[in-house]
Amino acid sequence: MSVSKEKQIYTCFSCGATGNVFNFLMDYKSISFSEALKMLADRAGIHINIDVKEKTSPHSKLYEIYDIAFKFYQNNINTSEGLNARKYLESRNIDEKIIKEFGIGLSLSKRNLLSNLLLKKGFDNKTIIDSGLASNNAEGIYDMYYKRIMFPLYDTFGKVVGFSGRIYEGTDISKYINSKETEIFKKGELLYNFHRAREEARITKTIIIMEGFMDVIRAYTIGVKNVVATMGTAITKEQALLIKRLAPNVILLFDGDKAGLKATISCIKELSQIGVVPSIVRLEDNLDPDEYIQKNGKDAFLAKINNPMNIMDFKLMQYKDNINLESSVEKADYVKKVLNDLSKIDDDILREVTIQKVSVDSNLSIEFLKEQLESMKKVTKETIQIPEKEDKKINKYDMAQRALIYYMLKGKDVINVYNNRKPFIPNEKYRHLVQEIVSYFKINGIINSADLITELMKSNKELVNIIGSIESDGFKDEYSLDDIDAYIKVIVEFNIKNELKRIKEEMNKESDPMRKAQIAQRMVELKLRGEEK
Ligand code: UTP
Ligand code: MN
Repeated sequence: MSVSKEKQIYTCFSCGATGNVFNFLMDYKSISFSEALKMLADRAGIHINIDVKEKTSPHSKLYEIYDIAFKFYQNNINTSEGLNARKYLESRNIDEKIIKEFGIGLSLSKRNLLSNLLLKKGFDNKTIIDSGLASNNAEGIYDMYYKRIMFPLYDTFGKVVGFSGRIYEGTDISKYINSKETEIFKKGELLYNFHRAREEARITKTIIIMEGFMDVIRAYTIGVKNVVATMGTAITKEQALLIKRLAPNVILLFDGDKAGLKATISCIKELSQIGVVPSIVRLEDNLDPDEYIQKNGKDAFLAKINNPMNIMDFKLMQYKDNINLESSVEKADYVKKVLNDLSKIDDDILREVTIQKVSVDSNLSIEFLKEQLESMKKVTKETIQIPEKEDKKINKYDMAQRALIYYMLKGKDVINVYNNRKPFIPNEKYRHLVQEIVSYFKINGIINSADLITELMKSNKELVNIIGSIESDGFKDEYSLDDIDAYIKVIVEFNIKNELKRIKEEMNKESDPMRKAQIAQRMVELKLRGEEK
């Protein structure tokens, strides 16, 4: 995300969000414009008299409740009743620092503490119950969570939207209880630790996927931070897309047991749907990553993640498990499965290496296997189509208009040049935006992108998005008026081109020779103008 001090606006290069300090706060904190205004005024020490009861985000109450619960649970862990919970965490080598970092908390044995706190803060029964953190019966409202260690679950922005509560003494049928799904919490649409792993994943270009959040926390304690967890369920399409956004290299590191193997296989399938080919780490003795690290130490774990299996080695291992390669039927089946996989993989080296291995396993010649593969590729043809992000095929005419807008937002000298020349802006939306800029400048005598955005937010949000996308085009900051002149020339050239095209069509339809001659004359004039521009 880039923040322009000069223009007082921000633009996110990855999701395209854009705006000024007001709508940043509105989106980030899910608050209304007047709340954002109030907050900023407070911060700047300016007194303004506005009523901030109106709320634009329908979910802001939910966020607030989760935020209060988050702080409340965290506080509980330091009370005397929290002693056993602290002991439990200590026995699992979770120290003070980790507790803080991951916001780990505690729900106490008394069943109405959180509900009462929320009531006292002014939330009504229905809102509290809708949050999923409380329920009610004949005696009234009561907390859903009691006597559990509370792990906050965050959305991709890092806001607390749910909890997973673990038992730590006594027994209960469920080890973890997750808070119920709400408008802000959809378990299948988030990954545990996403917002913390993001930066490290970007730097290392690698993201490691685990099943449990305790595994993620453990990996974190030994400095492996590019890790997220699916939280025990089969990976969803949304989660797969989140993973794809994090890093190009994906490592699956699920529990070493049978369930973990099953999860690995289903995850590979989901990822392949969107063109992601992961590598795989398997752990011995049914261990999960948390147990593995505690038992074998950091170095053994690092060796594991630094040497993951490639996808084909993993598949060969799978296919060879429980088959008899002496049997021709089973051998043929094995070879077919591998070739089928290879026909869909776009990696020459991996293909070459795998064919050699299969040749050894099957006693079939490399040439023969390659021939088979080629004929298979012709039939299947279902190579994975990687859905590209919306293609930014910007031609030079489009670019010139965008550049002109970019620099008009930077300086009034550019607006003056525009006002003197007044080129027709061919793209309708850009034209509107230019009109808005010009009239803003006319009224205020200055240009201020942030303020203009506030205006546009009310009338034409689409134009705000266009500003955002132009800001992320990467135009350089320095410019000369010659550059601006050049952009305008390109735009004029485009107009002439369009006009010529239109006239040609008119000419083709015209049958009257007099009219035809007039049109031809106009064409000559236009061409001349085009040359002298
Ligand atoms: P695991 O059973 O592998 O948990 O479930 P774990 O990570 O080893 O946890 P510890 O070490 O026993 O504390 C993996 C994930 O599945 C979800 C949780 O998100 C957990 O992190 N899960 C598990 C539940 O939601 N409910 C359960 O009862 C168990
Ligand atoms: Mn575990």
